[in-house]
Amino acid sequence: MNKQLIILSLLLIASFTTAQGQQQQQQQPPPNCVQNASPQQGNCVCNPGYWGTNANHGGSCTQCTSNTWSAPGATNTGPSVTAVSACSACAPGYYVTVQGSSSTSPTCTPCGTNSSPAQPQAGSSVQKVSSCNSCMPGYYMTQTANTATGSEAAAQCSACDKSAGATPSAPPQAVGDLSQCDACQPGYFMTTAANVSSKAAAICSKCPSNSGSQQQTKVGDVSVCKCFDPFALPLGAGQQTCACKSSSETPMQAPGGAAGCSAPSFGQLISLSLAIISFIVLI
Ligand SMILES: *[C@@H]1O[C@H](CO)[C@@H](O)[C@H](O)[C@H]1NC(C)=O
Repeated sequence: MNKQLIILSLLLIASFTTAQGQQQQQQQPPPNCVQNASPQQGNCVCNPGYWGTNANHGGSCTQCTSNTWSAPGATNTGPSVTAVSACSACAPGYYVTVQGSSSTSPTCTPCGTNSSPAQPQAGSSVQKVSSCNSCMPGYYMTQTANTATGSEAAAQCSACDKSAGATPSAPPQAVGDLSQCDACQPGYFMTTAANVSSKAAAICSKCPSNSGSQQQTKVGDVSVCKCFDPFALPLGAGQQTCACKSSSETPMQAPGGAAGCSAPSFGQLISLSLAIISFIVLI
């Protein structure tokens, strides 16, 4: 065998193992987050409505009290974060009746009638009940908010359906019927679209355990649900539950949770490379 062929083979092997190594790095499982936290850009951050000084393994995330709320990110997770600094807004379904400050939390009062401000309100200014001009997830509007001075009232909202999961795809701004419930909430997939002529809501099915989905606006199947474990077998027609390749392993139970399914081992990659070397050398 000539030298050139051997050099060529070695180059091929080197590029193959490098590519495999890079792929494995990209497939690293997310960091091990505490309960009520989620991975965000390689780190763990407390979920909306929670706060903590450390959301990685060993830390904790505490729920905002008295219906206050926090946005996820640097404002609700970090060494200098406190309950008051993080929980400076009102939770969905509540509006600000007494403003907060750097040392006190705002007072958050229920909107009622299943309504909510379109976005969680910052506690820095007092609002009227008519700012509850949208509906909670899973509800559609049956009466708009009344902004007339002296007779302010929140919007009135009705449940999308008896079957869970349906929700308007955008916050309803106008009075409508059940067909406004044309999307499925995160954690569901759509089996039947909403029907405007029969005034029917979309029909949604829950994702399997240990998986989740984004809000769905189109009919789909279980494959829109993604297992929390990056190494679990992908969901689809032939795989209706989250499982690992090895039946002795249990998939990750929450986004960023404790490791479940193991990654393809490096040993397997080395032996594959050796097989390719022998193949190339023998030809
Ligand atoms: C919507 O409902 C109407 C009336 O029940 C029915 O005739 C029609 O086929 C439905 N449309 C779809 C797309 O299912």
